[in-house]
Amino acid sequence: MKILITGGAGFIGSHLAHLHLQKGDRVHVVDDLSTGRRANIALHLGLSRFTFSEADIVTWDGLNDAARAADRIYHLAAVVGVRRTLEDPVRVVKTNIAGTERVMRAIEKSGRRPEVLVASSSEAYGFNPRPMFSESDDLLLHSRDHLRWCYAVSKLTDEFIAYSYAEKFGFKLTVARLFNTIGPRQVEHYGMVVPNFVKQAVTGRPITVYADGSQTRSFADVRDTVRALDLLAGSPLAPGETVNVGADQEISILDLARLVRERADSQSEIVFIPYREAYGEDFEDITHRRPCLDKLFELTSFQHRWTLTATIDDLITRARAELGLLETKELHPG
Ligand SMILES: NC(=O)c1ccc[n+]([C@@H]2O[C@H](COP(=O)([O-])OP(=O)(O)OC[C@H]3O[C@@H](n4cnc5c(N)ncnc54)[C@H](O)[C@@H]3O)[C@@H](O)[C@H]2O)c1
Repeated sequence: MKILITGGAGFIGSHLAHLHLQKGDRVHVVDDLSTGRRANIALHLGLSRFTFSEADIVTWDGLNDAARAADRIYHLAAVVGVRRTLEDPVRVVKTNIAGTERVMRAIEKSGRRPEVLVASSSEAYGFNPRPMFSESDDLLLHSRDHLRWCYAVSKLTDEFIAYSYAEKFGFKLTVARLFNTIGPRQVEHYGMVVPNFVKQAVTGRPITVYADGSQTRSFADVRDTVRALDLLAGSPLAPGETVNVGADQEISILDLARLVRERADSQSEIVFIPYREAYGEDFEDITHRRPCLDKLFELTSFQHRWTLTATIDDLITRARAELGLLETKELHPG
């Protein structure tokens, strides 16, 4: 099978590339390396089944040919996360909205009907008051602080763009609403909480919790996430569906800080930072975020293999190895 992954040198995309190469597929990654890294795909660069194009999806002249060659397309390239979005909303419009439209147009022009999976985000649910977020829930974004919701709105727009093209031109589209994903190769910049906590704990620096830490999240291991995406993209039942992908165990950010500190056997102090200091302005955070995964389980045979504790232990081992505190042979493969 020929796979095209936009954003394939990023955190999730590079794990997806790895999974498909392991399955014997041919993989073409396009990435402008704005947040992705060549190091994420370095292992594959010499393989004949792997092609890397360093390019911006908004301007890349190879996009039509790449789309025509693909049996399956994962569209992941995006400006990711609320903090980066606040830093450069115009880039979000260009990449997340114009870029997605350009990818869909390339699929239309290809005249082929590949399997297409578009990565959306749990941010789209906004302030959903329900304890678990289900795909049929209403979406509740506040109208004040409009740029706060730029990322969520861009991801929702992606969903509508993709559905419009898929319906009109008859290709198989699945939208995955990804919840918090963690694992190897996720970088701590841009406020990603788990890599931050792990780095802080293993170096003995204070663990920085935003606000009072009572906000809750559910964390899925990226190696589980990419298996779920593969199963969804290939499921005959999934086209036309929007599907939550994540883990449904919930933990408060303060408890997460305590768990990381305990697993790292660290003496780090836990300190609290107001949102104003973290984001440079008052910031409305989502109080809780937990996916209902019934649809994912109905449409695919997916089952989680990683627990939060197992992922954290793996990340601690990797962080110690990177800092030269451990032999790399102790690492879990992947
Ligand atoms: N990580 C999560 O918890 C999470 C949660 C919800 C949704 N998502 C979605 O999953 C996808 C992957 O996210 P990630 O966590 O791997 O982040 P990431 O930043 O590591 O990956 C995004 C990739 O897209 C690339 N990119 C950005 N703009 C580009 C452009 N114009 N042209 C080509 N490449 C470009 C970046 O260089 C990067 O490699 C994104 O669409 C994101 O919105 C991720």
